[in-house]
Amino acid sequence: MDDLYRDHILDHYKDPRNYGPMDDPDVSAEGQNPLCGDQLSIDLKVHDGTIADIRFHGRGCAISQAATSMLTEMVMGRPVDEVAALGREDIVEEVGIPLSPVRLKCALLGLGTLKVALHRHLGTPLPEGWAGMDEVDWR
Ligand code: FES
Repeated sequence: MDDLYRDHILDHYKDPRNYGPMDDPDVSAEGQNPLCGDQLSIDLKVHDGTIADIRFHGRGCAISQAATSMLTEMVMGRPVDEVAALGREDIVEEVGIPLSPVRLKCALLGLGTLKVALHRHLGTPLPEGWAGMDEVDWR
């Protein structure tokens, strides 16, 4: 079973979905994992309270890139407030393999960055200590 998930991760890493910068996004955010220096940017277009388009770019390990690619497919077309409420378990489930604490930070880099963008858009504060990611450098 693990092999299936590993293939799924490799597929998203080698062929990331919704990858690249976006022209004229409604809101953007950047996240950096201080453990490794990897960083990514997420751009969004929001229409009528839903995520009309999402793109990401940056550099990172296979887990961070694949998890963010999966995340973009998960959230496309969904309501902003629903996506802002996603938890770490939603990403862990999607990635599908056991993750050490270090790899968990890799897997959550995209969701944390997306949350920054969504709360920025909503004008609400990022929940304090979200998912234990508080030492991640969000911008
Ligand atoms: Fe940097 Fe995974 S090693 S995000």
